[in-house]
Amino acid sequence: MAVTLVASLTSSLSSSSPSLFSHSRSFSSSYSSRFSRFWFSPGFRLAFAVNPLYSSSRARAMAHTLARATLGLTQPSSIDPPKISFSAKDVDMTEWKGDILAVGVTEKDMKKDDNSKFENPILKKLDDHLGGLLAEVSSEEDFAGKPGQSTVLRLPGLGSKRVGLIGLGSKISSPSTFQSLGEAVAAAAKSAQASNVAIALASPESVSDESKLISASAIASGTVLGIYEDIRYKTESKKPSLKSVDIIGFGTGPELEKKLKYAEDVSSGVILGKELVNSPANVLTPAALAEEAKKLASLYSDVLTANILDEEKCKELKMGSYLGVAAASANPPHFIHLLYRPSSGPVKRKLALVGKGLTFDSGGYNIKTGPGCSIELMKFDMGGSAAVLGAAKAIGQIKPPGVEVHFIVAACENMISGTGMRPGDVLTASNGKTIEVNNTDAEGRLTLADALVYACNQGVDKVIDLATLTGACVVALGPTIAGCFTPSEELAHEIFDASQSSGEKLWRMPLEESYWESMKSGVADMVNTGGRPGGAITAALFLKQFVSEKVQWMHIDMAGPVWNDKKKAATGFGVATLVEWVQKNSSS
Ligand code: BES
Ligand code: MN
Ligand code: ZN
Repeated sequence: MAVTLVASLTSSLSSSSPSLFSHSRSFSSSYSSRFSRFWFSPGFRLAFAVNPLYSSSRARAMAHTLARATLGLTQPSSIDPPKISFSAKDVDMTEWKGDILAVGVTEKDMKKDDNSKFENPILKKLDDHLGGLLAEVSSEEDFAGKPGQSTVLRLPGLGSKRVGLIGLGSKISSPSTFQSLGEAVAAAAKSAQASNVAIALASPESVSDESKLISASAIASGTVLGIYEDIRYKTESKKPSLKSVDIIGFGTGPELEKKLKYAEDVSSGVILGKELVNSPANVLTPAALAEEAKKLASLYSDVLTANILDEEKCKELKMGSYLGVAAASANPPHFIHLLYRPSSGPVKRKLALVGKGLTFDSGGYNIKTGPGCSIELMKFDMGGSAAVLGAAKAIGQIKPPGVEVHFIVAACENMISGTGMRPGDVLTASNGKTIEVNNTDAEGRLTLADALVYACNQGVDKVIDLATLTGACVVALGPTIAGCFTPSEELAHEIFDASQSSGEKLWRMPLEESYWESMKSGVADMVNTGGRPGGAITAALFLKQFVSEKVQWMHIDMAGPVWNDKKKAATGFGVATLVEWVQKNSSS
């Protein structure tokens, strides 16, 4: 059985794609010279001033197109997706031939007898072939099978060129153990420039038959995501060498094959999520994000349809809260509504996934200043929408039955200009509620307000929103754990179940109603910020004002886990949990 996992999928944001970037490129070559002449000619300025065809939004769109063609001249390069083929095999690992034989070991597996020989029969057999060097080296290097430990040896005596021991910790439990095993193997394969590896366990009997499927798929997704590097904006980079992975001792057959395909689909969504977040704000504008959604709809046209609402349409829908945030930017807002419907069979559940889509957050007039404000990282402020679109890609491929999913993003930029909202301005959201903007940097909740109203109007049973919403949530839970807020016990259980399988970390936070006190306004129905104490909670309470009581709702604040500071890269957080949750709500 061989299943091919794609390590870097045709990213949406690569110029090989037929849509956005090839389009913008042809725009710059064929239109821009003509256009710039036009732009600078007095005729154009006159037309601009007197011709009603050039409405202000049209002028902004033009200014925006010109800006995109010129700002930095950056185009992501197109990269051939490296493919890794996974095969589940039942073979004797001492006879396996290839570049690296990687064996996952627990601390217990590393126990040695009085003669310094392994007690574990599999390691003992391996070590016999290697003249006892494995036991010797592991003692010398203090390799004890702890998580994060690994050692790779170049030794003669086996069919494999190298043998690696990968530490799994005290016991094999969750899928995240196997995800890490895959990642460690990917790291070893990269440094040895291996093209084929085998992955096995020293104690395969410790994995129950039921968890074999999920464990093998976690190994596969860990390997794919470990190998993947976003090199689209680099001019020099190494191509990954890994081509094939044999997974030994997890069984074989069609069920496992299906699960590996599922891992492939989810990983491709995670990679899209990462690429969207990594893309700089001069490339990934609100229009570019909308283009990505359209591209998903055309790639999976049997199940996905895209509806993009422009500024005019959003005005008609009275989305004053969202449009207030967008008002300062030369890049006009684009409201994205992508819809998944199974191509056949009845729909039993209707879900909405809403993502914060700030392609850049300068803070507005309450500009982000001072050390630690991370303004230079605020391209990641569309991490919620990246999770939502990444999930849409995976779901477009998996095609779960019996469930309808609405993917909703009110995409825009929070900038500064004479047309922008001021601190103290009052905005009116699409549910009629008024908001005094006492801080323009609390913009995410303003965009989500109208997105949530819109989502609830789609007649859905459940809504989950994801957002890089507050620094306060990062203070509370640190960089790797997302906060989740919901009045629904049922939804809380569903999401925790999903996160058990995805390995993503979420922690439930309270929706403390008494804190609403700090959100009272003298002039409007509410203010948009309530001060520093409980900042993540008051943000969630604000969102709650825009959710229909008939709908089950959860808010996920992913301001911490969206980004990996050490790797200086996006994590793709949220995609795997969302897909798992949709799958659990389907009738498959
Ligand atoms: N996008 C930020 C939140 C953020 C901050 C995410 C740091 C990741 C890292 C959000 O729009 C914001 O600016 N929130 C403010 C709210 C405050 C003004 C009440 C914040 O957290 O400081
Ligand atoms: Mn902000
Ligand atoms: Zn923000």
